[in-house]
Amino acid sequence: MGWSNRSLFRRKDVGRLVAEMGASDRLNRRLGPLALTGLGIGATIGTGLYVQTGIVAHQLAGPSIILSFLLAAVGCGFAALCYSELASMVPVAGSAYTYAYATLGELVAWIIGWDLILEYAIGSSVVAAGWSNYFEAFLRNAFHIHLDPRLSSAPWDYEITTGSFFLKTVTLAGGEQALAWFNLPAVLVTLLVTVILVKGVRESAGFNAAMVLINIGVILMIVSIGWSYVDPSNWRPFFHEDKGLRGVAEGAGRIFFAYIGFDSISTHAEEARNPQRDLAIGIMAALGICTVLYIAVAAVLTGMTPYRMIDQAAPLATALEGRGLTWSSGVITLGILAGMTSSLLVGNLSQPRILLAMARDGLLPRGVFAAVHPRWKTPWKSTILVGGVVGLAAALAPLGFLADLVSIGTLFAFVIVSAAVWILRFTNPELPRPFRAPWVPLVSTMGVLVNGAMMFSLGPENWLRLLIWLILGLTIYFGYGRRRSVLGREATGGAETAGGSP
Ligand code: ALA
Repeated sequence: MGWSNRSLFRRKDVGRLVAEMGASDRLNRRLGPLALTGLGIGATIGTGLYVQTGIVAHQLAGPSIILSFLLAAVGCGFAALCYSELASMVPVAGSAYTYAYATLGELVAWIIGWDLILEYAIGSSVVAAGWSNYFEAFLRNAFHIHLDPRLSSAPWDYEITTGSFFLKTVTLAGGEQALAWFNLPAVLVTLLVTVILVKGVRESAGFNAAMVLINIGVILMIVSIGWSYVDPSNWRPFFHEDKGLRGVAEGAGRIFFAYIGFDSISTHAEEARNPQRDLAIGIMAALGICTVLYIAVAAVLTGMTPYRMIDQAAPLATALEGRGLTWSSGVITLGILAGMTSSLLVGNLSQPRILLAMARDGLLPRGVFAAVHPRWKTPWKSTILVGGVVGLAAALAPLGFLADLVSIGTLFAFVIVSAAVWILRFTNPELPRPFRAPWVPLVSTMGVLVNGAMMFSLGPENWLRLLIWLILGLTIYFGYGRRRSVLGREATGGAETAGGSP
């Protein structure tokens, strides 16, 4: 094999990754374990729990959505252990992208980094669109304010079962039908979050912590109020009557969206006070807390309402309203808005940090993506750019379409991270591992298998979309990044790549 082929697999040395953090454009190191766990929970709880729980219970799993949540958590748990090991070894910004660069080489790293745009930026679009739905409901119920429906929905809708798109029609105040224009509340909340993020991570983490507390309080309120209205006969049959056990697996693939975000803690490695220890604590704590909360909410929701009658737009608020609990439904809607805001905040916080790592490696333009603001110490240009992309997608694209794309992209990243841990144990056995994932290779193998199985459950149309996204990314890599890669230029200049394989 010639050099030009091998160069696609050139790897970045872990020691070098750490050394690069000494540069003057590094981020401030001020997040402790509690703040990291809060960031993970903030990024994780959102549209998945508040909207998709209803859809999955109704269409795919019935009360057995509890098992779907468990199955998805198992897949995430294996990936989380692997993430924790890699994050403790490679405590720099970049998440799975950086780990892949250190283990599987530049091409795979690029693919992962490109893929993570689905998880963070497009994931944030889904959250912004879900936020808009609850915001509209809140204004309507609390203040009897009716937004123009043309301004609170994307112009397209998406049929999940057929995979087809169609123009979205809405009903105006006078009763006549009209085509939707765009989702204005989603754009406005994205704008607000972008301003907060450009100003600095300390303010953002504090804001997020407040949101997380409200969010957890609201979930505990849902569970404690709803519990007394549970009728155990609603849990029978336990499985969806049409789908049976298959519904549990298909449900896991879709409800997986609710877990996306806990891994975003690893993108803050560069801002963590003690990354070797605190990242693993934050990742596992956030995943564990979210799993318990999700299962409790799913049990209460399916216990309160027969699964075929569960609302698919705002299931929790509707279930409470159906019992005449309108005041608590209003308070809960407010809490849900807070939870979604923090989810949006952390998604938009993480994405620029991945792009920053890619730009430092020369795979993206440094002038935009590696620019750290001299006073606020934030990657301000790319934060604004990401905000623009998130707002645009939320304004114009259907929520269901975006959510499936995000899930398959993230599962793909989890599969690669799980594999990378095992590979690195062979290729770099000497590197310090402050946190070691237990029972490798069993944990790595299960991470690949369980997350891979969830990818399959999402169906061929989502594979095709992932493929198209990856082809677009490869075109950019071969058109730009490959020639501008820092490692690549060192190699063509005759320099040895510092410690990495050729
Ligand atoms: N897990 C996040 C949510 O459910 C992305 O909104």
